[in-house]
Amino acid sequence: MMPAMTLPLEHPMLSALVDDLALRGWSQQALFLPAELTRELATECLRRSAEGELSPAGIGRGLGQEVRETIRGDQTQWLEAGEAPSCDQYLAVMDSLRLAINRGLFLGLEDFECHFALYPPGAFYRRHLDRFRDDDRRMVSAVLYLNEHWQHGQGGELRLFLDEHEVLDVPPVAGSLVVFLSGQVPHEVLPTHCERLSLTGWFRRRGNEPF
Ligand code: OGA
Ligand code: MN
Repeated sequence: MMPAMTLPLEHPMLSALVDDLALRGWSQQALFLPAELTRELATECLRRSAEGELSPAGIGRGLGQEVRETIRGDQTQWLEAGEAPSCDQYLAVMDSLRLAINRGLFLGLEDFECHFALYPPGAFYRRHLDRFRDDDRRMVSAVLYLNEHWQHGQGGELRLFLDEHEVLDVPPVAGSLVVFLSGQVPHEVLPTHCERLSLTGWFRRRGNEPF
């Protein structure tokens, strides 16, 4: 097993991410992780899918949650610590990012929750914000893409609505990480034409459990 990978808070990539977030509310880093770790995470996602561990994603939270494929068509499974070395490595890196964001933006982020997501061909996720009316703990969204062979024309881009006149389409290419302020950046996943894999997560501040 590889030693747990943490990043020094002064790491240039973390600094760039934190600066971008502070200045414009979003950031994208092309090669966030070593290629080998990204590949292991993709393999883990596919293994979970093959073993039937992913379930259709819901919308909303707690008892109000429902599955509606006209809004989102992905299948997900939450990550827990201690399940696989690659997942633990990812959680360790994201904890470094959490601390770096706290140091630069004073958001008081307390934890990071994330899930694998698999969008089968034809799936999409309509425009939304990553905050629930009954739960505003999510402060920063972070999506890592795991598609090694993605090519233009295959769809599944993440579209960020940065302001009324500016949209940004991010290709879901392996190793690319996108972060944005959960309450401020509406976004959607364009219909994908191939199987699309990602690890999607949220840094959260302290709050009262709604349920
Ligand atoms: C989400 C989401 C974006 C993506 O799961 O809330 O917006 O690119 N995902 O997978
Ligand atoms: Mn979202």
